Amino acid sequence: MYEPADVETVGVVGAGTMGHGIAQVAATAGYDVTMRDIESEYVDRGLEEIDSSLERLAAKGAIDEEPATIRGRIAGTTDLADLADADVTVEAAVEEMAVKRDVFADLDALADDDAVLATNTSTLSITEIAGATDRPDRVVGLHFMNPVPVMEGVEVVVGEHTDGAVVEFAHAFADALGKETWESDDKPGFVTNRVLMPWINEGIRAYDEGVATRDDIDRGMRLGTNVPMGPLELADHIGLDVVLDASETLHEELGDRYKPAYLLTRKVAAGDLGKKTGEGFYGYE
Ligand code: 3HC
Repeated sequence: MYEPADVETVGVVGAGTMGHGIAQVAATAGYDVTMRDIESEYVDRGLEEIDSSLERLAAKGAIDEEPATIRGRIAGTTDLADLADADVTVEAAVEEMAVKRDVFADLDALADDDAVLATNTSTLSITEIAGATDRPDRVVGLHFMNPVPVMEGVEVVVGEHTDGAVVEFAHAFADALGKETWESDDKPGFVTNRVLMPWINEGIRAYDEGVATRDDIDRGMRLGTNVPMGPLELADHIGLDVVLDASETLHEELGDRYKPAYLLTRKVAAGDLGKKTGEGFYGYE
């Protein structure tokens, strides 16, 4: 099975920001989707987010079917065994190597031998995750961007043992989901986060060191470099805990130039994680 057209069911592990976004785009592309999280309240919250996103897209004519039809292709579950029939599963659980390795070992035991197991990890090693399975050739990185239904790109990450046909499949599958791709070797942070995280951390340091106000740093980067969000608002959008996790992995792997900004560490310690907690560098209703 190396053609997206042969895929019937897509499994998604994790119903959080990335997981429910991936489930939504897969169902929108016509696939049956099983989305699993560890607690039913996380599954329900993910399904509610999908409903509201589909309504927004329907309101501006960006989807061809009724939201209820697309939503009808998504089943929620707390049982990983329900992903046994998935032809391709995308894991979007927490960014902890031990958790991901456990999930991949379980998926490997459950899934058909030729099923592809993909991870949405933002910085962790695909090769190390794949090492928890007996099919490292069928493990690949599919790194989606947040918000998944709106962002056009997906990063395909190639592990040490990823089969060339699986890499091709990953590009074709992302294309079937309506996304454009680029490819990265399995090096810390891949292309996107290796370049993005220092940019965000430098914005935070500039703020902490009084170079400019919060708003002027974001305004300066928006107007000065034509990006949709400045570093502080983008950090809030991604989630400060996610930014800190990614920054720490890069720091560990690549040294001091990737040290997370002090103020980022302090805000995460205070539980101010950005939009999702109502408080980050900005306040949210
Ligand atoms: N579902 C459906 N539609 C959505 C949506 C969602 N989840 N989120 C936003 N939209 C739609 C809005 O309805 C709106 O549609 P319209 O233009 O037709 O009215 C459109 O997207 C723009 O949204 P808003 O008007 O609310 O706000 P903005 O114009 O500021 O756009 C944004 C929001 C799309 C998030 C834009 O600011 C943006 O592109 N920001 C940068 C995001 C980015 O860089 N993401 C990558 C982060 S890195 C990453 O994810 C990797 C990880 O590993 C860390």
